[in-house]
Amino acid sequence: YLCFRFVKEMALICEILSKISLVDRPTAWGTLGTIRPFLNFEPETDAITLAEAIKAKGVDENTIVSILTNRTNTQRQQIVKVFNTLTQENLATVLQKALSGNLEKVILGLIKTPAQYDVQELKAAMAGFGTDEETLVEILATRNGRQLQEITSIYKQECMSEFEDDIKSDTGGDFCELLLTLAKGRREIDTGTIDYELISTDARALREAIMKSKSPDSKTWIHILTARSHKHLKRVFQKYEEFNSLTIEESINKRFKGDVQKGLLSLVQCIWDIPEYFANRICKGTKGIGASDKTLIRILISRCETDLLSIRTEFKKKCGKSLYSCIQSNTKGDYQSALLALCQGEDL
Ligand SMILES: *[C@@H]1O[C@H](CO)[C@@H](O)[C@H](O)[C@H]1NC(C)=O
Repeated sequence: YLCFRFVKEMALICEILSKISLVDRPTAWGTLGTIRPFLNFEPETDAITLAEAIKAKGVDENTIVSILTNRTNTQRQQIVKVFNTLTQENLATVLQKALSGNLEKVILGLIKTPAQYDVQELKAAMAGFGTDEETLVEILATRNGRQLQEITSIYKQECMSEFEDDIKSDTGGDFCELLLTLAKGRREIDTGTIDYELISTDARALREAIMKSKSPDSKTWIHILTARSHKHLKRVFQKYEEFNSLTIEESINKRFKGDVQKGLLSLVQCIWDIPEYFANRICKGTKGIGASDKTLIRILISRCETDLLSIRTEFKKKCGKSLYSCIQSNTKGDYQSALLALCQGEDL
């Protein structure tokens, strides 16, 4: 009994501690997600219901969607395990056969772990001719150090090659350097203290790196923008503007070109505000043609336990309509139901 009480008290202390650190980093640990743990979760029941839905005549997509979009990723991983043991089949393989199109993409994405899913998306961004540079930056600039290290190790297991080597063979120059440095996941964690001296030093170093010679010293920019905490960098950007009467974005536009210019601009957006960056990404994607479904699916799946509520708020501000109604007008059928379930609510 004492042991039990001790465990309960420890759990309470942990919960309080996690809330305290959350105040500072609301976007990092899931309080602003739309998907919450399913109460009364029973992986066996879910696994059996799924098996029946997959075997049903014409496949009962509705049931598959309503189970898998109303469980956290941790819960889905338990369902996968139990399903594989009970049926002696692999849930991903079975679902892949049963489903097709965008619905298949969403459901298969949901049953991967976050790192496996990121690896799949990174690999796809580098596959074939041409590279989806923006998706590479999106993933590498918005995941934390622990997540990036996990991505690198899962990448090696699943792709039989080193992530770094694939980046090098797919991209070049300063842009390649930017991705490689981001992928290391070495960003400092905000300590809560403001280092005024370092703010000035960094702002000055950024300025000198583009003033001194004809071609900018991109190494210094990449180092500072990938090593310092987001909080510190926001202050550096403000200081930079005081020194230069140019914003950091204006300087990047003036002094850098091509992929590294676009990459740095996206990184700066992420440093200012990650949910706002994602909202812009969806907003641009759904207005244009082509990549919009891929981007929409990836962002909903990868942010639904992190900051999707904030993304929805920013989306409404930027796009003039809610994400929910945007999904309603751009998608159809069970695929639409799956995305709406992840988005969860209308923002009026
Ligand atoms: C998800 O499950 C919860 C129970 O944990 C339930 O209250 C809620 O209505 C479900 N949401 C949807 C969209 O089905």
